Amino acid sequence: MVTEHASAKINLFLHVGDKRADGFHPLQSLAVFTAMGDVLSMEPAFGLSLTIEGPFAKGLDGEGDNLVLRAAKSLSEKSALDTQGAKLILTKNLPVASGIGGGSADAAAALRGLNQLWNLDRSEAVLRDLAAGLGSDIPVCVLSASCFMEGRGEVLRAAQSMPRVPMLLVNPGVAVPTKDVFAALGERSGVEMALPRGNFTDTADLLRFLETTRNDLEEPARRIQPVIGDVLQAIAKLPGALMTRMSGSGATCFGIFADDDCCRRAAENLKIRQPAWWIAPTFVPEMGIVHEAAGQDIGPTAEGL
Ligand code: C5P
Repeated sequence: MVTEHASAKINLFLHVGDKRADGFHPLQSLAVFTAMGDVLSMEPAFGLSLTIEGPFAKGLDGEGDNLVLRAAKSLSEKSALDTQGAKLILTKNLPVASGIGGGSADAAAALRGLNQLWNLDRSEAVLRDLAAGLGSDIPVCVLSASCFMEGRGEVLRAAQSMPRVPMLLVNPGVAVPTKDVFAALGERSGVEMALPRGNFTDTADLLRFLETTRNDLEEPARRIQPVIGDVLQAIAKLPGALMTRMSGSGATCFGIFADDDCCRRAAENLKIRQPAWWIAPTFVPEMGIVHEAAGQDIGPTAEGL
């Protein structure tokens, strides 16, 4: 049995440029991963099957459409495996279609886990190439570490260091399709910002950088689902909230807090006033210069399978 954690992906900022000829938008972002996430367990079996449990299991469509199975099939096909299968069990703790990359993180967890279960020994770079064919956010979820993202999301550079960041995630229970938010995009920051090396030594340092950035998708997402504005306002009013922003294409918003206690108290406070919202106090784990790719460009590779 192999178990992989599929952490929520939070875009601390997200700048978008003009639509490319292939229909995608170029972007610049800093993605970080929280302790909160889905869990994917895998064991050997004949054929591929997926069982979904957990608080958000009902939010997913039928098996056939699940990105986890698409990732598993794609790894199996590209590896010319026709006899190996797996029984996959996904515990869905994250809300679906909510801007925190739940489906992408699950697919990335399937690629990492099945690579191990099937003894394929594919490199991380190969898994990222495969991931890029499945969705723009999946390569960064394969790394599941703080990264600057460029291109349509597949050009990555790991941040050099990241402090532990206490973070409150809040979703008002509305699904916002990514495609619709990009289609409603008005004013955009463009993608010409010189990205820093990302040597964030403490929260204050990180916040100073984030103040110079924004999430371009916040305004169009708020037009589609005005409740996002209420969520942002509610988090900003909580004692100890240092910064509030929407992640990805929404509707999940996050608050950065001074410490874990403050974040937990803020969650309790908000749950009383908004019992129907999904409110999750969590944190981004501290990351030193440990990643092999820290500070280097992690572009698409030509390695292939
Ligand atoms: O790549 P993914 O399937 O996650 O993208 C979903 C949709 O979001 C795309 O079909 C596209 O409309 C939009 N998108 C975009 N530019 C990106 C990523 C996604 O326009 N960089």
